[in-house]
Amino acid sequence: MKVNGQHYRTIWVAQNDRTVQIIDQTLLPHRFETVDLNTMEDAATAISDMLVRGAPLIGATGAYGYALAAHADPSDDNLASAYDTMLATRPTAVNLCWALDKMRTHLADLAPADRTAAAYALAADICDEDVRMCEAMGDHGLELIKEIAAGKPDGSEVNILTHCNAGWLATVDWGTAIAPIYKAHEAGIKVHVWVDETRPRNQGASLTAWELANHGIPHTLIVDNAGGHLMQQGMVDMIFTGTDRTTGSGDVCNKIGTYLKALAAYDNDVPFYVCAPSPSIDWAMDDGLTEMPIEVRSSREVTHLTGITEDGKIETILIAPPETRARNDAFDVTPREYITGLVTERGVSEANREALTELFPEHK
Ligand code: MRU
Repeated sequence: MKVNGQHYRTIWVAQNDRTVQIIDQTLLPHRFETVDLNTMEDAATAISDMLVRGAPLIGATGAYGYALAAHADPSDDNLASAYDTMLATRPTAVNLCWALDKMRTHLADLAPADRTAAAYALAADICDEDVRMCEAMGDHGLELIKEIAAGKPDGSEVNILTHCNAGWLATVDWGTAIAPIYKAHEAGIKVHVWVDETRPRNQGASLTAWELANHGIPHTLIVDNAGGHLMQQGMVDMIFTGTDRTTGSGDVCNKIGTYLKALAAYDNDVPFYVCAPSPSIDWAMDDGLTEMPIEVRSSREVTHLTGITEDGKIETILIAPPETRARNDAFDVTPREYITGLVTERGVSEANREALTELFPEHK
């Protein structure tokens, strides 16, 4: 996607063929700055401090973190410790485990001297594959938007609600849930996006809104509590969200608040689609409610807000009494029965194991 007319992915290798570069997403939408990752530890911190975030991008950064570790010391011991360090950075997005497993398996049988080049090559492949999968989900999701658009006799805009940021910033390019919206915009379909602010870290307000504005896509920011009301008023035609981990049986774990949107959508007959590339599917997991590892983050993300002052300073302020305790579960699980369909890179599936494994027979 383009930023100020220049094409960017969210992660790339610098001209020295070693340093990995990312966009510091904690500064958006106010500042666009890139950051160098020179060590595996830099990559681990970028994930845990959320300079990069979003399940597919976390996976891609994990792969490059492993490559940086191989560059520093390609021994079995160092790579085993790098695997553990990277895996511990964020527990919910299964893409991280998927990418690290791929890297570990690929490098295991190679001589240490051959590992660095192989690791960088595989990390680059993982990124390219992510872009292909996201674009394919965009094409499949576009068909769903077209169906809704066709049902609007007056040719009015299709109103799509999204939660968190599942746009290109959450992936290597295109995005998952926003890819169909980019495709629809390109195809000349009138779309308008309701952007959930997504407390506590406000990925909707700061990242999704920034992406859509950059791309010239009409959108309106709403507080997280507004979606149900808008659905009751007939102002939402469909919902697209991403996922951090979807069980093989179709339960979807995504940013906290997704479940409440799904419930409201179910009650108001609003189609609720989740864009789930296959690396976000945990085929071994069956019951999302009891098995999902839900990340609990710092309570400071709830008690404080960060923004820019009128004189251009990025500042963090306290919004609760100093003695008030806060709890910060970062994700929730939407049971499969509330999901209209899972948009994967191979097509749209019902949210259940039978339908998913029709599309992915290798996981039967
Ligand atoms: O905590 P984050 O910002 O990493 O959470 C991101 C989300 O919940 C996204 O919706 C999810 O990763 C799917 S993104 C393609």
